[in-house]
Amino acid sequence: MLAETLMRQLFFGESHGVGIIRTFQGHCARFLTDTALEEALQAQIADESRHARVYARLLVKRGGVRVGPAAADPGWRTIVGHMAAAKSFSTTLIGIYGLMEPFNLLSLENLLRPLLDASELAEVDQIVRDEAGHVGMFDVFAELVERRILRVDGAECTEMVRVFATWHDPDSRSPSPSPSPAASPSPSPSTIWQ
Ligand SMILES: [Fe+2]
Ligand SMILES: [Fe+2]
Repeated sequence: MLAETLMRQLFFGESHGVGIIRTFQGHCARFLTDTALEEALQAQIADESRHARVYARLLVKRGGVRVGPAAADPGWRTIVGHMAAAKSFSTTLIGIYGLMEPFNLLSLENLLRPLLDASELAEVDQIVRDEAGHVGMFDVFAELVERRILRVDGAECTEMVRVFATWHDPDSRSPSPSPSPAASPSPSPSTIWQ
């Protein structure tokens, strides 16, 4: 795969991810009093914005390659669109922190890095360090779920995984996706956002 192809996917995910994480932060703010977590989300938003700018700049440097939404893989657009439309804690938790961040990290390290020159590596290595930190936020949110401060919707998480798996393996596309029913604990409305 060409470096430009990978960068186009990454640019698309980063630029739209910023909006998804902003929505996530806005909803969580009603329930969280954890300043450190709030600051981590703010830092992540700033990181992802900077990442999008880096990819746009690298793409332009490599010959003015298009960086608009149409340049991204349709499957990738489906995943990002699914998360943006759901605007929920469950989908964002699984989508961003459980799937996209780890997947991006693996792609960056194993696919993109070997294709870059020294000047590009310096910029992308900073992104790799940032993404490694973002992956760790999954554990923070998982703990809040364990403490029942936040609730995950089982069916919604299953659907997010199905959308992601379909992108990677077109053969797995089933004619009638039927996520399993939610198996969530009873919510306490004053402390739970899903
Ligand atoms: Fe990023
Ligand atoms: Fe990230």
